[in-house]
Amino acid sequence: MPDAQDLPPDPEDLPSTLKRPTGPLRRPAAVLTDEVVMLDDLRDTDVDAIVTCCDDPEVARWLPLPSPYTATDARAFLASIQGLSEAGDSLAFAIRDAIDGAYLGTIGLHFARCRAGEAEIGYLVSPAARGRGVARRAVRLLADWALRNYGCRRVELLVQPGNVASRRAAEGAAAAFEGTRRNGLALRSGTVTDAAVYALTSEDLSSRSLGFRHAAEHHCIRVRPRAQPPDRSRPMGACR
Ligand SMILES: CC(C)(COP(=O)(O)OP(=O)(O)OC[C@H]1O[C@@H](n2cnc3c(N)ncnc32)[C@H](O)[C@@H]1OP(=O)(O)O)[C@@H](O)C(=O)NCCC(=O)NCCS
Repeated sequence: MPDAQDLPPDPEDLPSTLKRPTGPLRRPAAVLTDEVVMLDDLRDTDVDAIVTCCDDPEVARWLPLPSPYTATDARAFLASIQGLSEAGDSLAFAIRDAIDGAYLGTIGLHFARCRAGEAEIGYLVSPAARGRGVARRAVRLLADWALRNYGCRRVELLVQPGNVASRRAAEGAAAAFEGTRRNGLALRSGTVTDAAVYALTSEDLSSRSLGFRHAAEHHCIRVRPRAQPPDRSRPMGACR
């Protein structure tokens, strides 16, 4: 029988900043940007771009999304995300080009499967926008915001071990590889597979040992007002 001091802390005893958020989740007061990409609200006008992003063999291979992915699926996704946000489960953002606002992908911050003080990030990038650092920039922006604003100790990225592009993006975002969680991911087929576990802490985000240097080190992470006031009647939230 372990001593009481050896037991993991009861979540109820954790400082309030380390408790799992109970919805509704708070969104950033303004768009998060490093002046190359920005994280913004998803809009009904993004449906076609979401379909182009998600109806893709690489997405079908690595994420538990419908395949083929249709406009009906995109609308259902947009309609679902406000409920997930209000329940405290997840927040979703469009990744956009910081210059022209074009949709580049979707990124989500998830709490539903996480322990207190932890969150998970999931992401996907449109085929035409891949290979130029969009995912790693978006991950860093969202992880930085989550660590500062939700009192998270760590933000996890769970990747199928064979998903080289996603692993490279995680590493490019300065997430540390911590090992393999066996049977750590559920697939669309209902089966499970291993998860390569990456995580970001505040220390990682201030690290300088990066191929991609954190924009905050150069004082170029910005929040800037949204182009128009957010429409609170419209769904906001979740990635997967
Ligand atoms: C994974 C994904 C989000 C990466 O987006 P991205 O914006 O292209 O990522 P980044 O450009 O930030 O980083 C990708 C890196 O992987 C490299 N890469 C891409 N495909 C690769 C491959 N097949 N083999 C080796 N490296 C590859 C890129 O060259 C880039 O390398 P760099 O860090 O040296 O520049 C995108 O490929 C995607 O949406 N895939 C389908 C959905 C998915 O897998 N989501 C993640 C689930 S965990």
